[in-house]
Amino acid sequence: EKGSYAHFMLKEIYQQPKCIGQTFVGKIANLDAIHIDIPNPMRQLVFVACGTSHHASMVGRYLVEQHAQIQVIPEYASEFIYRTCLLGPSDLVIAVSQSGETADTREALHTAIRAGAKTAGIVNVVGSQIARMAGQGMYLHAGPEIGVASTKAFTCQVTAMILLAAFLSKDPAFRADVIRTLPMVPPAMDQLLHNGHMHATIDRIVDAFKGATNALYLGRGMDYPVALEGALKLKEISYIHAEGYPAGEMKHGPIALVDTHMPVFFVLSRDAVLFPKVLINMEEVRTRGGRIITITDVADPLPTAVERVSEFLIRVPYIAPYTSPLLKVIPLQLISYRIAVAKGLNPDRPRNLAKSVTVE
Ligand code: F6R
Repeated sequence: EKGSYAHFMLKEIYQQPKCIGQTFVGKIANLDAIHIDIPNPMRQLVFVACGTSHHASMVGRYLVEQHAQIQVIPEYASEFIYRTCLLGPSDLVIAVSQSGETADTREALHTAIRAGAKTAGIVNVVGSQIARMAGQGMYLHAGPEIGVASTKAFTCQVTAMILLAAFLSKDPAFRADVIRTLPMVPPAMDQLLHNGHMHATIDRIVDAFKGATNALYLGRGMDYPVALEGALKLKEISYIHAEGYPAGEMKHGPIALVDTHMPVFFVLSRDAVLFPKVLINMEEVRTRGGRIITITDVADPLPTAVERVSEFLIRVPYIAPYTSPLLKVIPLQLISYRIAVAKGLNPDRPRNLAKSVTVE
């Protein structure tokens, strides 16, 4: 039941601190409680998934490559099925799915099994088809997700990706860091969800852009999948055409779209290498009159350049580089929800969409 919330989507957004705790609670006490039999040696790790689950897999790529030095390929399940499959016994294929019933993901898993690859699942619904076929893996324990737009499944999947990276990592310092920092995320997320200043900024963003017909979402590194997820949320429930793009690719085409009406959401990292690069991209947009909304966890004091280019600015708490998608996605979910409601749409029942897509 929705309880005091107007929609399931809103309830599920607010459940996220509790849900991600449920994803990691049994695992951080003992990372080896994650039972995934992996090929030894492992040639590569392939994620097969659709939609939001694909975005979580993209975050997983950065984490596993960086912390476990394993080549990772996040595949769209619907494309993977029809390509030449070059997998074999030294590859691990992980199907990522909230429902565990998505037909494309199921078929991609089937292809991997036929090719003789080792398989696993990162799934929410216990006993679902994909969970049973995969034979091993991790459950999210997010509880039922009713809202058609996936919210808590995404943050729980990203949490599972952090756990997976720690499980696969040979670096004891990283493993210890994950065990120490993950419990800090739920309280930080809760604080953010109840941050009056953020909600006041979102009010202004909703007023400014509820009539928009287009929006761009840009980020680099792990902020890129977060941008993709922000854009997907906006288009599916608010029916505003939104594109997520790697910020560095913008100059290769999409910048032509920027005019004085275009909302451009930047997911801005505090990372010493990425920060100056993204700031340059922000200045390119600002020069062309684009209206910038910045979501960032940059450290205090906020560089004045960020303030200067941002018409709207939302700051989220910082815990560790690898936890940043969990917090940065929160305002993006809320903005999409609030714009849908402001337009008189029901976010729980977006047109043309079903909760689980059981056809290919
Ligand atoms: C977006 C959304 C979809 C699903 C996709 C995969 O909000 O809900 O993009 O993420 O259909 O579904 P699962 O994870 O159930 O396989």
